[in-house]
Amino acid sequence: MEIRKAKVADVPGIYHLIEQYAKTGQLLIRTHTSICEDLLSFYVAVEEDEVVGVGSLYIYDESLSEIRSLAVSENHKGKGIGKELTQIIVDDARLLGIERMISLTYQIEFFTKMSFYIIEKETIPQKVRKDCLGCPKFFACDETAMVIQLN
Ligand SMILES: CC(C)(COP(=O)(O)OP(=O)(O)OC[C@H]1O[C@@H](n2cnc3c(N)ncnc32)[C@H](O)[C@@H]1OP(=O)(O)O)[C@@H](O)C(=O)NCCC(=O)NCCS
Repeated sequence: MEIRKAKVADVPGIYHLIEQYAKTGQLLIRTHTSICEDLLSFYVAVEEDEVVGVGSLYIYDESLSEIRSLAVSENHKGKGIGKELTQIIVDDARLLGIERMISLTYQIEFFTKMSFYIIEKETIPQKVRKDCLGCPKFFACDETAMVIQLN
C-alpha cells in the first residue's frame, strides 16, 4: 500500500470512494470537476492500482486549514490507512506553517486518537462563512468541530 499525492488517473477512484460515503451522509459529495480543480490538495492510499483511501487539505488562510473528504474503503478499514493519511496531511500543513487544522466530523473517537480536540463552531468563522451558511443543516448541524494545533 502506497500513500502519495493524487494524480489525474486517480480521479475516478477518488470520486467513487467519496460517493460511497456521501450516499449515507458521512461525507460531502464531490464532482469529478471539483476533484480535478482541487487535485493538488488530494492524497490517496493506493493498493494494486486501486484507490483505497483518500483525504484532502484545504487552506483557508495562514492560521486555518481543514482535513476534508477523508475516507477509507469499507474492506480496507481498520488497517491504519485513515491514520496514515491524516498524519501526512497534518504534517504537510505543519510544514506549510499553518497554525491550526480543523475537521467537521462524526468520527470523534478517530480524530481524538489523532490528537484533535472538540471546539465550538463559533471559533471557526472562516468555515461557517465558507460552507455552513449555505448548508441545509445549518440550524440542525450534528457534526462536531475538532481542531489540532500545528504551529
Ligand atoms: C474514519 C475513517 C477514515 C477511519 O479510517 P481507518 O483506516 O478505518 O482508521 P485506522 O485504521 O487508521 O484507525 C486509527 C485508529 O482509530 C480507531 N478508529 C477508526 N475508526 C474508528 C471509529 N469509527 N470509531 C472509533 N475508533 C475508530 C482505530 O481503532 C485506530 O485506533 P488505534 O490506533 O488505537 O488502533 C474510516 O472509518 C472512514 O472512511 N469512515 C467513513 C468516512 C468518514 O466518516 N470520514 C471522516 C470524515 S471527517
